[in-house]
Amino acid sequence: MNKWLKISFSLLISSLLHGTSINGALDELKSDPYGFAFVDVGITKEDLENFSSIDIQREWVYHQFGEMERVQEIFANFFGEIGVSEHAIILRAAERLKEIASDVVKASGKETAWICLRSFIPTNRFDLPRWHVDGHYYRSDEPEDLIFKFALTLVGPTTLFYPISRELRKTTEKTVRNRQYMKNVCKQENIVSPKIGEGALFISGQYTSVAALHSEPPIHENRLFLSIVPCSEKQIIALKSRVTALYPKDSRN
Ligand SMILES: [Fe+2]
Repeated sequence: MNKWLKISFSLLISSLLHGTSINGALDELKSDPYGFAFVDVGITKEDLENFSSIDIQREWVYHQFGEMERVQEIFANFFGEIGVSEHAIILRAAERLKEIASDVVKASGKETAWICLRSFIPTNRFDLPRWHVDGHYYRSDEPEDLIFKFALTLVGPTTLFYPISRELRKTTEKTVRNRQYMKNVCKQENIVSPKIGEGALFISGQYTSVAALHSEPPIHENRLFLSIVPCSEKQIIALKSRVTALYPKDSRN
């Protein structure tokens, strides 16, 4: 059976309760011309209220490479680092994120993941969108391997995605780093974003292929953001050295 079609019982139940499952969205992603799909991961109103209760006093980022059994503890530590929140709120948030991370990895059929949790305080750095595609996070020996990221905003504004045509990709290949230029190219009325608490799955790779064009949103309020890149235990080693070379330590960047 194709690994993307492996549907665990719990995820099937989740899909019946919440609409598109992660597996369903991954299937959708493979044929999406723009390289992104949104997914309901079962975050409730109560979950969102709990995430909103987390005190965010500073911008911070934490990268976790593999060791999925440690993510709950690491998320709890992260929430302790960014502000002063009630213990019960932290525990509930960390547990919920651990469940989501586990669901995403399970649905992907991969062994582990690079997980990144990031907090923002209001900033004008993204008032002008930073439209880009993510390059390949790791090399895969399997040509049909879908290399993707899962992104989820828990507090604050959600990621911007743009359904860019093949023609427009070609004509903007050299100008994609020009933020003012791209602002004019990417028409406001065509920009789409997941709802808060709704996941986004998107493909990485070449700008001229189906990699998803996306940007941070304008961030004028606190924001809490989770991203997950599932991969194998072997791939996580190379991925870790690439990411840590870019971001030498967990810090504001
Ligand atoms: Fe990105």
